[in-house]
Amino acid sequence: MNPSFTYESYLTAGSADAVVRLISAAELQNQAAHWVQPQIDEAVREQYARGLFKAESGQAEVIPSLGLHSAGTIIFVGYSPEDGLNGLRVAGATAAKALKRVKALTAQLQLPSEIVSGNEAYTAERAAQTLTEALLLAVYDRQPELREEKQRYSIRKLSIVNPAAGSNESPDTAEQWNAGIRKGQLMAEGVMAARDITNLPGNKLTPEGLAAHAEDMARELDLDIEVIDEWSAAEQGMGGLLAVGQGSVNLPRMIVFHYKGAPDQEETWGLIGKGITFDTGGISLKQPQGMEAMISDMGGAAAVLGAMRVIGETKPAVNVIAVIPTAENMPSDRAYKPGDVITMMNGLTVEVVNTDAEGRLVLADGLTTAIRRGATKLVDVATLTGAVLVALGVEATGAVTNDASLMEQVSRASEISGERVWQLPAYPEYKRLLSSDAADMKNSGGRHAGTITGGLFIGAFAENLPWVHLDIAGTAFLDRARGWEPKGATGVMVRTLVELVTE
Ligand code: BES
Ligand code: MN
Ligand code: ZN
Repeated sequence: MNPSFTYESYLTAGSADAVVRLISAAELQNQAAHWVQPQIDEAVREQYARGLFKAESGQAEVIPSLGLHSAGTIIFVGYSPEDGLNGLRVAGATAAKALKRVKALTAQLQLPSEIVSGNEAYTAERAAQTLTEALLLAVYDRQPELREEKQRYSIRKLSIVNPAAGSNESPDTAEQWNAGIRKGQLMAEGVMAARDITNLPGNKLTPEGLAAHAEDMARELDLDIEVIDEWSAAEQGMGGLLAVGQGSVNLPRMIVFHYKGAPDQEETWGLIGKGITFDTGGISLKQPQGMEAMISDMGGAAAVLGAMRVIGETKPAVNVIAVIPTAENMPSDRAYKPGDVITMMNGLTVEVVNTDAEGRLVLADGLTTAIRRGATKLVDVATLTGAVLVALGVEATGAVTNDASLMEQVSRASEISGERVWQLPAYPEYKRLLSSDAADMKNSGGRHAGTITGGLFIGAFAENLPWVHLDIAGTAFLDRARGWEPKGATGVMVRTLVELVTE
């Protein structure tokens, strides 16, 4: 069921289960102002005066209308104009959660003029996109597989209005808002698709299953796709992908999307996502506590798929090669072992010192695949290291790069998306931790600077093209919900990737 979000004139907007008003502390201090209904306005003003509702970011005041208004519930959501686009995103998420709490299926969102018409910090279209993304994403929850299926909550109909505009509202406003809403809806669909597939357990999503899912999406959106099976991978020398996949009956795949939205341009994005459908650690087996979270070890693949979904829907004028190396990392009699020396697709040899450092092996062949197919700048997304949780916790995605200007572009995209990215240093000294007596490199540099050495291993396969590595091990799968992100899979980096390539 597709929710219907529209921008409407306040004068013609119909009634709804709930009315949401974004409100700032400054507005609440104005004794003469009125917002929704005189008595209800008085009630919220009093809550403010008593310090019970401060109109801060993340706060909502839910007031039953008791027949004073056609909507059953009036919700005031705190927001301050200084907080810019991401303040708006938090306000949207707060509003959506309050609507879910009161089980409102239809809602009217009333906005102050400085948001509706845009301001120095953001355009009207950006505001519309941001609010729509937040409203849709904040009420998502993992769909459990139950004997008796439960209905998922979603807002069915939401109209966004500016009560202050009256009858002199310009038709441009509605046009910009509806364009932003449309973009926000497509973004949210991309993110939710990424969350859904990441939340699938290992027995429900194998590498072949992931490839089938990608093929379905390609067919639906008319995208070119190539799925490389284990035979073809062997022919092309994908030693990293094959070594990681060889321990499992579920065979590995290399998935490649070819999107050419700008045929006369050379520049081609290479987006590479780690697709380990389950990571046991292999022979270097992980400890059992928390291993179930390793269903999310294809979160990078999901981010790339989600971004390709949005790209497939909007068909922007850019070129993208999207690559998803996918395998299941299992211990078995056939599994690759510590001490094995493998030859990668580009000819570099690697001494495997830890089979749990598998992501970088499949990604390395993923980078080579993207380059061979024409990528000129590379971004890889991966749940790569536990060490990124030690460094940054769950508050930011870690980045490693060989190119300051590409990094700058990624940072700008991440500021727009609200998905934090923090760059780690890539001093040449770190790379020495990967030197091996048996091969060109070893696949783990040990405990020091684990996120950086993991990144630099992948970067060794970038062939000097601009490259940014995004380690989402801390941000792809959460123990508790926050803002617009649920517990479990977050779909993080879908929106950052789309903002990046469509910038
Ligand atoms: N998939 C894991 C990283 C991970 C850890 C993701 C926690 C999400 C949450 C990765 O394959 C891994 O096992 N990395 C090792 C690398 C080490 C052996 C060099 C790690 O972080 O311990
Ligand atoms: Mn691992
Ligand atoms: Zn892994």
